[in-house]
Amino acid sequence: MAKKPFLTDIKTLRARARKHIEKGAVTEGYSADRGIVVKLLNEALATEIVCVLRYKRHYFMASGINAESVAAEFLQHANDEQGHADQISHRIVQLGGEPNLNPEGLLTRSHAEYVEGDTLTDMIKEDLVAERIAIDSYRDMINYFGNDDPTSRRMMENILAVEEEHADDLVNLLGGLGK
Ligand SMILES: [Fe+2]
Ligand SMILES: [Fe+2]
Repeated sequence: MAKKPFLTDIKTLRARARKHIEKGAVTEGYSADRGIVVKLLNEALATEIVCVLRYKRHYFMASGINAESVAAEFLQHANDEQGHADQISHRIVQLGGEPNLNPEGLLTRSHAEYVEGDTLTDMIKEDLVAERIAIDSYRDMINYFGNDDPTSRRMMENILAVEEEHADDLVNLLGGLGK
């Protein structure tokens, strides 16, 4: 049985790695369209920041009989989203791009919306909608990255899993409120 050949011979790999060392993690074997990947990651970054702001608003505004436990959940989610924003920014820089942290146009770049909500139930429902938007758009990104950028794909897969947990938490909170 013939052995499966290694994709690129070592001599070629070594020679390629020596070229364009200024590009850091981006090697000649990187087959994704870097411009599109950075643009998509910047949209995910905007989504995360809008989610941080919305969860923070909800955290500070939560009031009523069930407020304490719900507010704690809002804060936890806000911190998770901030962590995602940082991971995504780091990856953008690794790819030779720049994280777009400009507040101008943030809501246009974001897939999720910023809705304040009047009651605790409204807040939870809006957060759930936002999570569901993020879940669908991140899944699309993951499919797009495919095997062309496995690192960005893996990062977004891990983030997606957390957004799914967030959505699940919110459904449970709604259930706890009898909604
Ligand atoms: Fe997130
Ligand atoms: Fe989330």
